[in-house]
Amino acid sequence: MAGDRSTARMVIDPSFTIADVDDRLYGSFVEHMGRAVYGGMWEPDHATADEDGFRGDVLALVRELAVTTIRYPGGNFVSGYDWEDGVGPRELRPTRLDLAWRSLEPNLIGTDEFIAWARKARVEPMLAVNLGTRGIDAARALVEYCNSPAGTCWADRRAANGHPDPYGVRLWCLGNEMDGPWQIGHKDAAEYGTLAAEAGKAMRVVDPSIELVVCGSSHSRMPTFGAWEDTVLDRAWDVADYISLHSYYDPARYPDLDAYLACSLDLGRMIDGVAAIADGVAARRRSRRRIGLSVDEWNVWYQRGNPDFERTDGAFERAPGIAQDVHNVADALVVGCLIITMLRRADRVRIACLAQLLNTIAPIQTRDRGPAWRQTTFYPFLHASRYGRGTVLRVEVQAGTYRVAEEGEVSLLEATAVHDPDAGTVTIFAVNRGADEMELRTVVRDLPGLAPSEHIVLCDDDLDAANTPPGVDRVLPRILPLLEPDRLVLPPRSWSVVRMTPEGRGT
Ligand code: AHR
Repeated sequence: MAGDRSTARMVIDPSFTIADVDDRLYGSFVEHMGRAVYGGMWEPDHATADEDGFRGDVLALVRELAVTTIRYPGGNFVSGYDWEDGVGPRELRPTRLDLAWRSLEPNLIGTDEFIAWARKARVEPMLAVNLGTRGIDAARALVEYCNSPAGTCWADRRAANGHPDPYGVRLWCLGNEMDGPWQIGHKDAAEYGTLAAEAGKAMRVVDPSIELVVCGSSHSRMPTFGAWEDTVLDRAWDVADYISLHSYYDPARYPDLDAYLACSLDLGRMIDGVAAIADGVAARRRSRRRIGLSVDEWNVWYQRGNPDFERTDGAFERAPGIAQDVHNVADALVVGCLIITMLRRADRVRIACLAQLLNTIAPIQTRDRGPAWRQTTFYPFLHASRYGRGTVLRVEVQAGTYRVAEEGEVSLLEATAVHDPDAGTVTIFAVNRGADEMELRTVVRDLPGLAPSEHIVLCDDDLDAANTPPGVDRVLPRILPLLEPDRLVLPPRSWSVVRMTPEGRGT
């Protein structure tokens, strides 16, 4: 009954740890899809555009969001992309048909421009190679273009294009969603595993310091899920540092809000399953290596009933306004649950990319020649990226549950805590899934004097509320008054960030 109060308890002890958070867990993704690049990243006649045509208002928001790593250029786009089209003098670059998104790709932005933008955004690039229509040769040439010192063909081409110093791109994805029949150049697991192994081998000869991500499953309901990971890892074991997982949650798939808010359980199970399979392959090979997980596409995505989700006819357009989802308060809670789910598995999830960053399924939205603004989902990511650095603690949580047909019993509280030993702080991230206010008692062990100094919440009586022009600040985080040191009140259906500092002082 609304108006009631549930209770929960959380024990925080710095001796019980999961892992240090890899900064790359706070990554995102920019694909040549919709208005992500043209209109999001780059709009040379925008009032805030810099000397390279990059939107200054967007760059400021990306920096504010504290994104660490950005995957580029796709996504499905990469499986038909000829990276050579996107380098060199702009006037010589061809316009191509992008078959993935039925778009016209003018190639005005390519690898060099992305790297320049990434530097301005202060993020690490994560590049994907085309293992759909291309293969080993294009992949090794791109690594040479990016990472080799001048003196060979592709490195000299980079220098001639104005970039004498190697870019030193460390993270590389071996294709994208190759398990998906929609993928241009889709392959079965054995074919893909062999190709990934050979492409990775060649790329690593060019630059031995690179880290490689092999494609896992596009979502947990894929008929090949599990078997795909097993075969791919078996074949590409020698080159794989990470295996990817993709997972989008469509609110329209769920019968009600309670079920939707429980969707993060699927991500948790998927992560646990992939880790188990990777460890199974390791055991079979008598290897002590633990493959890392790269959740390099995750988000809420309104797909069902969305006319632009699968565009199978109509003219090819340049930068069509597709997948510009409006994210509401409920979506922000789901994003919060998904982040907590990954943090709780930070020992295996080392890389994660909120998909995407700009306009396309994104926390940052823009209008051509107009404003850029923050969606509701901007905030949980921002809070986690700003305050969720350090060591994830293995917290003990006791809370009530509710029943969801697809999942069984679901905790009313999704929560984790991150300890920053240098600053002496602990930050609790929590989603109260319930319709009632929740009283959360915290028991802190072995951190004398640690007490809440700030409680940030994102919630709204209207879970459909969103930030859309002109009301782009309709939903904002706010600060709640603190009650007793060990007693917090989490509003109904809310995202909470509780900063705990020595003696409860602010830092
Ligand atoms: O992020 C949008 C699309 O979702 C990506 O192109 C693809 O990898 C996934 O299916």
